[in-house]
Amino acid sequence: MEIVTSPVECRKKILSLTVEGKNIGFVPTMGALHQGHLELVRQAKLSCDFVVVSIFVNRTQFNSKEDFEKYPKTFDGDAAKLSQSGCDIVFAPSDSDMYPSTPEVKITFPQLQKSMEGYFRPGHFEGVALVVSKLLHAVPAQKAFFGRKDWQQVLIIKQLVKDLHFGTEIISVPTVREPDGLAMSSRNQRLSEKERSLAVIFSKSLFTARKKLLAGDSVVETVASVRQAFDRLPEVRLEYFEIADRETLEPVLSVESNTRVSLFIAGYVGGVRLIDNIFLQEETE
Ligand code: PAF
Repeated sequence: MEIVTSPVECRKKILSLTVEGKNIGFVPTMGALHQGHLELVRQAKLSCDFVVVSIFVNRTQFNSKEDFEKYPKTFDGDAAKLSQSGCDIVFAPSDSDMYPSTPEVKITFPQLQKSMEGYFRPGHFEGVALVVSKLLHAVPAQKAFFGRKDWQQVLIIKQLVKDLHFGTEIISVPTVREPDGLAMSSRNQRLSEKERSLAVIFSKSLFTARKKLLAGDSVVETVASVRQAFDRLPEVRLEYFEIADRETLEPVLSVESNTRVSLFIAGYVGGVRLIDNIFLQEETE
């Protein structure tokens, strides 16, 4: 496994591999790798000849300096995991490699970013779009793999790639969960033992809400019951729970005969912010 830091060198390598007829799969990450990331690498290996994983903690997508500084940075451990997972190149640029000067360009998604993560983390998706554009220039892959835990991000990246003709196919991979249901996330590493046991409320709320909706409860009743569950636990804070169309992200008022519904949740356990989502129709996940 090779480690490349220069975006220009990386692009040259990928383009020459492409000329040789290799099919490139790309897994962009911010490091602190867990089973969810390794599943993305596994999926990439299944359908591509050559797998590139990037590790870059992108400051422009953090809307809080403290959150950026506290984001776990574990490069050596990450590289060890990747070397055992079949990754061929780790692209690990420095901050100045990626941002040699302050960018002027700004990419926005007025429809897709107006709710949920876009609403509660102003500037987040501009930062994601900018860095993913830069990453796709450095790694012009045939396919790029992203986890469905960040579903709004998946939609935004699909739109970015379509609007700017990147020519990379975006593949979304189902969320990998801990045995109790908690979605795997690099942020889970920051939870204390007590917080870790409380964090299950996010996935539990989603699965309970899905059951209620499928049993015929209304959207209003379901939202109220999730809010009540959070109100009973002072250590956790609900930021949003939304039932929305999973392509447009518009809230839905009734789930009857609607096959594109997803449930989305975000909030805090102590100082750690967690997000999760599931499709209403389980079999489509
Ligand atoms: O999902 C992530 O880890 C990041 O948002 C991404 C796509 C690597 C961009 O920094």
